[in-house]
Amino acid sequence: MVKGKGKLAVCSGQFAAIVLKVCPLPTENCQLNCILVVNMNTNIVVAIDGYSSCGKSTLAKALAKKLHFIYVDSGAMYRAVALYFLRHNVDVNDHAQVIEALKNIHLNFHSRDYQTHITLNDEEVSAEIRRMPVSDKVSTISAIRDVRVEMVKQQQRMGRSKNIVMDGRDIGTVVFPHAQVKFFMTADPKVRAERRYKELLPTNPNITLEEVFENLAHRDYQDTTRKESPLRRAEDAIILDNTDLTPDEQLQFALDRVEPLLLG
Ligand code: DC
Repeated sequence: MVKGKGKLAVCSGQFAAIVLKVCPLPTENCQLNCILVVNMNTNIVVAIDGYSSCGKSTLAKALAKKLHFIYVDSGAMYRAVALYFLRHNVDVNDHAQVIEALKNIHLNFHSRDYQTHITLNDEEVSAEIRRMPVSDKVSTISAIRDVRVEMVKQQQRMGRSKNIVMDGRDIGTVVFPHAQVKFFMTADPKVRAERRYKELLPTNPNITLEEVFENLAHRDYQDTTRKESPLRRAEDAIILDNTDLTPDEQLQFALDRVEPLLLG
């Protein structure tokens, strides 16, 4: 049982208990009096947008785990589409080829321990979509209108009548413009490149920090300047600059803004 005012205490099925008051003498009865049971069968959407590699998925996963929400990594969907396009040499300038490819792409999420497991036509591609060939191509492919229309449709379906945390580039502006809470994340580009470099090194021993830095700069540029749903901060999004924050500190920052909603 978690102790502390406003903290999520327990969760079971559609109900969650939130600590309202910390008792000086926590007897069994007293603890029961201090806890508010809330119906989790609601439809709260937490939208997290921001630049590449600024910790969106770290925050989104931690938040979803703490609140018992469903986590959706929308970037993984665009990455899986990019992987399909790469493997099948789809010409991004050929509208008919793009439409045909989209018809043949079937994506599925399986969440285990709040880690994203994504399948592309029943093949587990969670690791492959993080490799450099996909990272180099994904911004171009995610800028294609038909690709976005299809992904947004699927994302909106996932958020219907469920509590979810979704991270991406257009979640608060296009996918869920009425999300109850929106965060816009940012961090120093050098710090972002170092974090991503450390993440990639174990599986890509030949990668250099410069290569990662350039890839991020290039993706930021493409994501913010593209015609279709460019990355931008929704007017009502809360800015979260995590350059100097630990993962725990950024989680607390977000929880302080989301938990009051659960109390109604
Ligand atoms: O979050 P990520 O780095 O895994 O995302 C990969 C790419 O997908 C990123 O360069 C931009 C694109 N993307 C997007 O256009 N819209 C989203 N909602 C999520 C990702």
